[in-house]
Amino acid sequence: MAVRSVLKMGDPLLLQQAKPVEQFDTPELHALIADMQDTMTSLNGAGLAAPQIGVSLQVVISESARFSVSRRRIGAAHGLDQSAAVGARRRDGGRLEGCLSVPGMRGLVPRYKSLRYQGRDQYGKEIDRTVADFHARVVQHEVDHLFGILYPMRIRDMRFFGFNETLFPGEDLKDD
Ligand code: NI
Repeated sequence: MAVRSVLKMGDPLLLQQAKPVEQFDTPELHALIADMQDTMTSLNGAGLAAPQIGVSLQVVISESARFSVSRRRIGAAHGLDQSAAVGARRRDGGRLEGCLSVPGMRGLVPRYKSLRYQGRDQYGKEIDRTVADFHARVVQHEVDHLFGILYPMRIRDMRFFGFNETLFPGEDLKDD
């Protein structure tokens, strides 16, 4: 398959709502997911949404899952986490979000600590999972991509938005 180039913030496609997947287990869908996987791996990413490689379809992958999901089905989310503060950002880069479409930056985004999501895998099999912590954050970040939302649009306090090299010198951070 192939490593595809990732669109960057400013590209109008990243602001569009992606279309739902109508047909599962097709060569086209498998090829799309293989390309997304190759692209994510080559960039050391934690997750990727199809719109980021220019395909306006509701497909996301992460290190631990690949699925098509609709925001309408995300329910039962608990515990909005807005607690990371100055001390936290210094010792734990993982609490701030990065994005392959906003390279080299990191910001603090309020996210639910745990949530349940439903969707389908690439074969059409139903998925119904409850996830927490890092996995929950990645799901929220990727599903936002399907609805034209980039994480900087969710930052509430712009003091917690900056460049990786300044906030976390020498750290190898994963983006999604
Ligand atoms: Ni992203």
